[in-house]
Amino acid sequence: MVRSRVVGTGSYLPANVLTNQALAQRMDTSDEWIVARTGIRQRHIAADDEFVSDLALHASRAALEAAGVRAEQIDLIVLATSTPDMIFPSSACLLQAKLGIKGGAAFDVQAVCSGFVYALATADALMRTGQYRYALVIGAEVFSRILDWSDRGTCVLFGDGAGAVVLAREEGLDVASSGLAGLGTASSRHGPPGILSSHLHADGSYSDILCVPGTVNAGKVYGTPFLRMDGGAVFKFAVRVLDEVGREALSANAMTPEQVDWLIPHQANVRILDATAKRMGIPESKVVVTVDQHANTSAASIPLAFDLATRDGRIRGGQHVLMLGVGGGFTWGGVLLRT
Ligand code: UT7
Repeated sequence: MVRSRVVGTGSYLPANVLTNQALAQRMDTSDEWIVARTGIRQRHIAADDEFVSDLALHASRAALEAAGVRAEQIDLIVLATSTPDMIFPSSACLLQAKLGIKGGAAFDVQAVCSGFVYALATADALMRTGQYRYALVIGAEVFSRILDWSDRGTCVLFGDGAGAVVLAREEGLDVASSGLAGLGTASSRHGPPGILSSHLHADGSYSDILCVPGTVNAGKVYGTPFLRMDGGAVFKFAVRVLDEVGREALSANAMTPEQVDWLIPHQANVRILDATAKRMGIPESKVVVTVDQHANTSAASIPLAFDLATRDGRIRGGQHVLMLGVGGGFTWGGVLLRT
């Protein structure tokens, strides 16, 4: 059975850090309000000459180095972003050129804050065809460019960054079915590493609660090129579907919440993370939280958190990691993997 497995992680954050205190000097907000409502303390902001493909390049190089894989070995690039360098070519193609490679497949996935989960599921499905050997899957965003900095209800929530993983094709036992034989036992914990299952959903009827409702026509911008959000509606929707898709992923693998070693939800708001963990019956100590340091980096938030917790030694081999994404569209999804 062909499957895919994460063999390296990497991430990148722009050097410029914007704290809540610095924001409070520019607009009518406060560190207290932002921390109490969101848990966010600071965010990173890309330099004017840094684009999504640049952030993705740094994260990809770190992931390749961690994996011990050379760029020339990559034959598939799937890049999740809603803030691409340009309308086309895709940022994945621009990244491929910056990596100095050619010939493999490269394309972007646009599912806003669920982007990385969508990209990982897509790359995994392609790897299972047996046509690809090594894939780079990246979430990279420069949301600072689509924020209305006069709207305190949204601009304090987001930041820029990138996270990446290298997937390797493996052949042998099927991860899901071999795990099913005795999950929770010592042998299943040491079952083959890989992506066990992924679960993707969307409901376009909620497109207006989180959107950038602008377009370009004949050289002019029509509508607004800035992020618009109904925060309360997004909050309620996010908590409900993260719990639902998390349970769906566990059920598909006959696993219980106790068997999850690390929960990595999209880092939107610490209250959403806490509520999701509570609804799923997973203790807060098993939730990877980066939203305090990075704010909401949309498609980059899950791979950034995954890389951080891998590099600081929390995520180790033989563990079950549940990634849950939710974002504009509305889109949501989950990926369950064994490290
Ligand atoms: O990837 C998904 C992206 N989006 C999200 O995850 C957002 C989900 N939603 C949320 O995180 C929360 O709804 C927010 C953090 C956006 C807002 O929290 P809330 O508890 O729902 O606050 P609220 O919208 O009810 O606003 C409360 C008050 C309002 O004042 P009034 O009308 O009660 O006088 C706002 O004007 O807070 C005010 N406010 C602020 N005050 C200080 C809104 N933004 C700010 C601000 N600083 N930055």
